[in-house]
Amino acid sequence: MAKLWSPDSWRSKPVIQIPDYPDKSALEAVEAQLASFPPLVFAGEARELKKQLAAVSRGEAFLLQGGDCTESFAEHGADNIRDFFRVFLQMAVVLTFAGGCPVVKLGRIAGQFAKPRSAPMEKQGDVELPSYRGDIVNGIEFTKTARIPDPSRMLMAYRQSAATLNLIRALAQGGYANLNHVHQWNLGFLKDGPGEKRYEEIAGRISECLAFMQACGLTPDNTPQLRTTQFFTSHEALLLGYEQAFTRIDSTSGDWYATSGHFVWVGDRTRQTDHGHVEFARGIENPVGMKCGPSLQADDMLRLIDILNPQNEAGRLTLICRFGADTCGDHLPALIRAVEREGKRIVWSCDPMHGNTIKAANGYKTRPFDLILQEVEAFFDIHRAEGTHPGGVHLEMTGQNVTECTGGAREVTETDLSHRYHTHCDPRLNADQALEMAFLIAERLKRDRTRSADVKELMSSA
Ligand code: PEP
Ligand code: CO
Repeated sequence: MAKLWSPDSWRSKPVIQIPDYPDKSALEAVEAQLASFPPLVFAGEARELKKQLAAVSRGEAFLLQGGDCTESFAEHGADNIRDFFRVFLQMAVVLTFAGGCPVVKLGRIAGQFAKPRSAPMEKQGDVELPSYRGDIVNGIEFTKTARIPDPSRMLMAYRQSAATLNLIRALAQGGYANLNHVHQWNLGFLKDGPGEKRYEEIAGRISECLAFMQACGLTPDNTPQLRTTQFFTSHEALLLGYEQAFTRIDSTSGDWYATSGHFVWVGDRTRQTDHGHVEFARGIENPVGMKCGPSLQADDMLRLIDILNPQNEAGRLTLICRFGADTCGDHLPALIRAVEREGKRIVWSCDPMHGNTIKAANGYKTRPFDLILQEVEAFFDIHRAEGTHPGGVHLEMTGQNVTECTGGAREVTETDLSHRYHTHCDPRLNADQALEMAFLIAERLKRDRTRSADVKELMSSA
């Protein structure tokens, strides 16, 4: 397809899931203001992430993507950000060390605000109001005023993203992520949790390695990899007016980049080939993702791959699969085979959250830990059978001790759900559950790696 594209070419296509703002001139004024604001991320950083994702596509690294379903204005604070970052670092350490694999760290953070909804209206009793679409669009309170789409919320979302990213950059680069602090990341409520012993054991082994490396002359002072970490941001590119305002030309390459985050993805509800969301994503040079749900057929997927990654560039496109534990096996193999047949370079990631949402008997929307794990296992099994790389996982999670998903070693029961159910949208793994998931995935990575090494040895001695 010819690249006749501009940051606003999506406007000439059909779009869904973007709110109808009642005050058009207020919307235009806000979008113009956003376009004058500094970018949140730089093109060079997005290129570095693409390079790391290319390694994932070759099976040389593992992608860990995670964060809130939707960030909220109310939960914005230093403790929340630090607690998320801490558990995310712990997960990455577990995956790197126990799984024996470099980890690409990608947060659903610093811009993950806009939500697609299954129903445009929400009914409570006899009252029907427009659905909540994320704090960047309207308020969660069930009142007529709160639910009116308000463009000024985009300004707030930008400022919150900038502040969040600022703290994350400081945590990643300013000493907090120094591997010598690996024991300190285990403080907070995770201490005395079910994962504490296992984590402490890994932390202990890492400390031993660091002491050995230090004896060999490699210290955090002369080896930046030991004292800092690279962390990237991502969100769904749903609210295209906002995204357009932050799409800027990179002066070094002359290419267009989304600067609202390093990586953006197209959701499962907005991936129509001829619609505005795909149009927007195809023109930016960032690494991009696309959610793949049960309705995606192989031929449509191939068309989308050609639109989104016409040069077949490794690391450009991540397909984030979210079928549900029970039906993953009905969908994923056909998609993988089509990709292999056509020689497409893809990062395969597993979102085990969105296909496994159920309603508990007491009415709470939840996700059972075992079902989430079951989809992850199915994803690994299928890739193993097809001879392809299970590249990564995409989790909705928080560093807080919430009770939103059931199960886990420190079990959350359906009755517990009402205790700390704080999410503004989908239920998230709490810190214990997220760390436990990382341990289980690390074990799986290690097992598969050992198995393929065994197979290689068998082949060479045959
Ligand atoms: C999400 O990731 O929060 C989401 C809405 O996902 P999907 O597009 O897969 O439904
Ligand atoms: Co979600």
